[in-house]
Amino acid sequence: MNFHVLTLFPEMIEQGLHTSITGRSLEKGTITLHTVNIRNYTVNKHKKVDDYPYGGGAGMLMQAQPVYDAYRAVVEKISERKGENSKVPRVIYLTPQGRVFNQSMARELAGEEDLIFLCGHYEGIDERVLEEIVTDNISIGDYVLTGGELPALVLMDAISRMVPGVLGNQESGDTESHSNYLLEYPQYSRPEIWHDKKVPEILLSGDHAKVEEWRLERSLEKTQKLRPDLYQKWVSENEEYFIRKKNREERKKRNERKKEKKLVF
Ligand code: ADE
Repeated sequence: MNFHVLTLFPEMIEQGLHTSITGRSLEKGTITLHTVNIRNYTVNKHKKVDDYPYGGGAGMLMQAQPVYDAYRAVVEKISERKGENSKVPRVIYLTPQGRVFNQSMARELAGEEDLIFLCGHYEGIDERVLEEIVTDNISIGDYVLTGGELPALVLMDAISRMVPGVLGNQESGDTESHSNYLLEYPQYSRPEIWHDKKVPEILLSGDHAKVEEWRLERSLEKTQKLRPDLYQKWVSENEEYFIRKKNREERKKRNERKKEKKLVF
């Protein structure tokens, strides 16, 4: 996965991504990062990249010219590597007006070879350049930030986790919260007792099947309590789980009744 970021604050992106798991992946080359300072592409002799909006209104807008030229430089670099007729990469504009980002979008975007992120600042970007280059408008939630850099980092982090080789063998992006609408089950590490709280017995039992069943039950409980919206989605896609569970419970009750009868006679 090759990330290209058009921004006025490349150091923010570099520092953010060169940390922890994404930092390790950059060193390994599983992901790459290419930041482009939009200011380097302005033709304005004072290096200005913003101007007042026509029609008035608060704040300044990023102008079309430096954004477009920075974008063209990135596309040319990619086509030098991949050939003239290669697919034009998707351009993600981070904006509170976009579609709200989620795990399935992360998984889908991880399938691309190159992604270009466009980070806005000030009151936004001249609409004309957005119309020409943006393929995806994405928001990270219904609130307004001062720029697109933090949202771009959020997306790149979530997308990186879905790129093969980024997480170690032991970790899997598919067993965690949101991978199937369910929140992750509670986890415990040493010591066995802390502040008088004991680790659930079943996790010490070594019975793998029982542990898996317990984890699914806890995930369901947690999701129902904290995210009833996600719980409903899971329920509607997993009706057979409840049918099997009901059958299991009825079988257990029948067996218990049989045992009781045997004791009586
Ligand atoms: N830029 C400013 N606020 C944003 C948000 N909530 N999501 C994505 N980009 C943004």
